[in-house]
Amino acid sequence: MIRFGSLELSSNLFLSPLAGYTNLPFRLVVREIGGVDLCTTDLVNARSLLERNRKALKLIESNERDRPLAVQLFGSVPEEMRDAALHVESLGVRSVDINMGCPVKKVCRVGGGSAMMTELGRTAQLVRGMVDAVKIPVTAKMRLGWDDNNLTAPDLTRALEDSGIAAVFVHGRTREQGFGGTVNLAGIRAVVAAAKRIPVIGNGDVTTPEAAAMMIRETGCAGVSIGRGAFYDPWIFRRSRQFLNSGERSPEPPFAERVRILSRHLDLMIEVFGEALGCVMFRKVAPWYAKRFGPVAEFNKRVVQMSSRTEFQEILQRYLRWRGQFCDEQGELLPRYQPAPMLASFEREPEEGPPSTTRTAIPVPRGPVEGW
Ligand SMILES: Cc1cc2nc3c(=O)[nH]c(=O)nc-3n(C[C@H](O)[C@H](O)[C@H](O)COP(=O)(O)O)c2cc1C
Repeated sequence: MIRFGSLELSSNLFLSPLAGYTNLPFRLVVREIGGVDLCTTDLVNARSLLERNRKALKLIESNERDRPLAVQLFGSVPEEMRDAALHVESLGVRSVDINMGCPVKKVCRVGGGSAMMTELGRTAQLVRGMVDAVKIPVTAKMRLGWDDNNLTAPDLTRALEDSGIAAVFVHGRTREQGFGGTVNLAGIRAVVAAAKRIPVIGNGDVTTPEAAAMMIRETGCAGVSIGRGAFYDPWIFRRSRQFLNSGERSPEPPFAERVRILSRHLDLMIEVFGEALGCVMFRKVAPWYAKRFGPVAEFNKRVVQMSSRTEFQEILQRYLRWRGQFCDEQGELLPRYQPAPMLASFEREPEEGPPSTTRTAIPVPRGPVEGW
C-alpha cells in the first residue's frame, strides 16, 4: 500500500508515460494482467486540453476498467496548468502529474518539460497554484537535472514538497544523457533523501523483477515506475509484485501466453481506435512483443504492413508455422534461439563490459518524441 496524498494505491509499481504508446488499450492490457494500480496517460499539452483539441481529448480517453488513472500535463503557464488540472479532476481522473522531464526542444523552448528543473522558484509557484485548485494529488515527473553539473532534482523535490506536491517520479538520468549511459541509482537516492514526507518513485531501465527490487533496495525509493520494460513484457508488474512480496521468481510468460496477450492488445486497439487506425497503430506495437519471441524476421516483415484483424491472424498463423523450424518436438524454442536474458543498465558491475549474452540497453521506440 502506498499513498499519494489522499489517494491510496494497492501497488507501488507504476506505468511510466510513453508518448505514443501508453494509450488506453495498452493501459488496459497491463491492468488485465495485474500488479499495477495507478497508470498514467501520455503527456498532454494543458492548453490543447483547455481548447478541447480533438487529439488532446483522445489522449485522455479512458473507461471504467482504466482506474485509477493519472493524466500527465505539460505546459509552463500557471493558469493553464491549473485550469487543465481542474478539468481532468472534473472528469474523475484520480491524480494529475506534471511533466518536468521531457528533453524535447519543442517542450523545453516554452519553459515546459526539463526546462522546469532549471527554474525552481517559478516551478514551485506553478505547482502551488495547481495544488490549491484541486483536491486530487498533484505529482511531478522529473529527471535528475539538466546535466551532471546541474543535478537539481533534490532541491526541486524539496521546493515542490513545500508547494504541496504529493509524490515525485524520478528518471535516474539527466536531460543531457538522453537515454544513454547508466541509470544513476545514487542520483535517485539523493532525491529520496531530500524528500521529507512524500514518496519518491524511482524510474529508468527496469526490465526485470530483480531490477525493480534492486532499485528499491539501493535507493530507498517507495516504488518503481516502468515504461519500456512494460512494452517488452506487460507481465512485468505482476511478476515484480510477486517477487517483491515473496521473493519468488516467476519465469517469463510462455510463448502461447505472449501470443494471447498480443491478440488481446490488438482487439483493444480496434475497440478504441477502430479497425483501420487501430491496425496501423499496432504496426509499431507488435514488434515489441516479438522481441521476446526468438527468431522473428518473418513476423516483423509482415506485421509492419498489416491493415486488418484478418490479415493479422494470417500473419500470425504463417509465423507460427515458420517458427516451428526453431523448436523441439514439444514446440519449445531450442535453447540456442532463446532470447538473451534481460539485465538493467544499473545491474552491471561498472568495471565489467556488457556480458555478450545479456541485453543491457533498451532500444528507444520511434515515435512523435524521438528525443525522449
Ligand atoms: C517513446 C518514449 C516516450 C516517452 N514519453 C514520455 C511522456 O509522455 N512523459 C514522460 O514523463 N516521460 C516520457 N518518457 C520517459 C519515460 O516515462 C521514462 O521516464 C523513461 O523511458 C525511462 O524509463 P524506462 O526505462 O522504464 O522506459 C518517454 C520515453 C520514451 C522512450
